Amino acid sequence: MKTLKQWLTAIGGATVGWAAWRLFAPEFWQRAPSPFLSTAPLRATALITGASSGIGEAFARRLAREGYDVVLVARRKERLEALAEDLKRRHTIAAQAVVADLSRAEDIRRVADMVAGLANDGQLDLLINNAGFGTVGHFVDVPMSEQMNMLAVHVEASVQLTRAALPGFLRRRRGGIINVASIAGWFPMPGNAMYGASKRYLINFSQSLQAELEGSGVFVQALCPGFTYSEFHDAPAYRAAGFRRDVIPPFLWQTAEQVVEASLNQLGRGEVICIPGLHNRAIVLLGTVTPPAIVRAVRRRAGV
Ligand SMILES: NC(=O)c1ccc[n+]([C@@H]2O[C@H](COP(=O)([O-])OP(=O)(O)OC[C@H]3O[C@@H](n4cnc5c(N)ncnc54)[C@H](OP(=O)(O)O)[C@@H]3O)[C@@H](O)[C@H]2O)c1
Repeated sequence: MKTLKQWLTAIGGATVGWAAWRLFAPEFWQRAPSPFLSTAPLRATALITGASSGIGEAFARRLAREGYDVVLVARRKERLEALAEDLKRRHTIAAQAVVADLSRAEDIRRVADMVAGLANDGQLDLLINNAGFGTVGHFVDVPMSEQMNMLAVHVEASVQLTRAALPGFLRRRRGGIINVASIAGWFPMPGNAMYGASKRYLINFSQSLQAELEGSGVFVQALCPGFTYSEFHDAPAYRAAGFRRDVIPPFLWQTAEQVVEASLNQLGRGEVICIPGLHNRAIVLLGTVTPPAIVRAVRRRAGV
């Protein structure tokens, strides 16, 4: 008969072991070569939303280097066309620019039809729902139109493109879907309520979807980056609020290339959540096990 002390030691040891596994194991699989990429057919295609800058552009560059044909979706035509030309020249792949505003229902439908067509013809291997943006300010102060645009870009577009890709992926028994969420999806986000909630949606949606798709050959990932160098924080809302990158300690930042490397290397390993960077996993782990009252007190002290 075990004593209480022995039970507590066993539970404590198991908890520490579990936490260490969550923290450190991804460091190994996020650095090892990607099982998804290494089993790609000779001609593979990825469609990436929000490909005109930041993480989306880094996905496009990395996949083109792997020999993928790419379909690049965003609003800024010149950026997309310049990137497509650059990738075609460097890697002798096919690259197509598709101008679309994913906050507009008709543009979402147009891109979804394109995704369905490619997937049904067996010409799409990877869908990356990456387009996104942030707002700054309390829910009651940010114009409703901006909040609804965010829901459309983060949620509606991702859901519709995913649904459009799936029948073709399932028929072929191969496909990858990366939904770019954020570590913000793991916590309440006062001052960014819709952002955190829409990213939480993508995390939960990806987890449920992967459970439904178990054994189908289709892999779903919810990619949860932390602070990443990109144009995200150059948006007018952040500039108006006086956001400065240098007030965030440098060790909390990653490059878009680091985020993309971690994501692609983890895809196909049976783990839905990809949190690039040990520091980001530590933040999520701590934030999700710390009692809410302590989190609130820390927030109050930090003024956020
Ligand atoms: N940077 C970070 O710290 C960070 C952290 C966690 C998660 N994320 C997420 O990572 C994703 C990529 O962001 P990023 O950091 O790479 O920022 P970014 O450089 O600003 O890129 C955002 C991309 O989304 C596109 N986009 C925005 N609104 C769009 C719309 N209405 N229709 C179509 N495309 C639209 C932009 O293209 P156009 O302007 O040309 O349309 C751009 O290509 C986002 O989902 C973001 O929430 C970023």
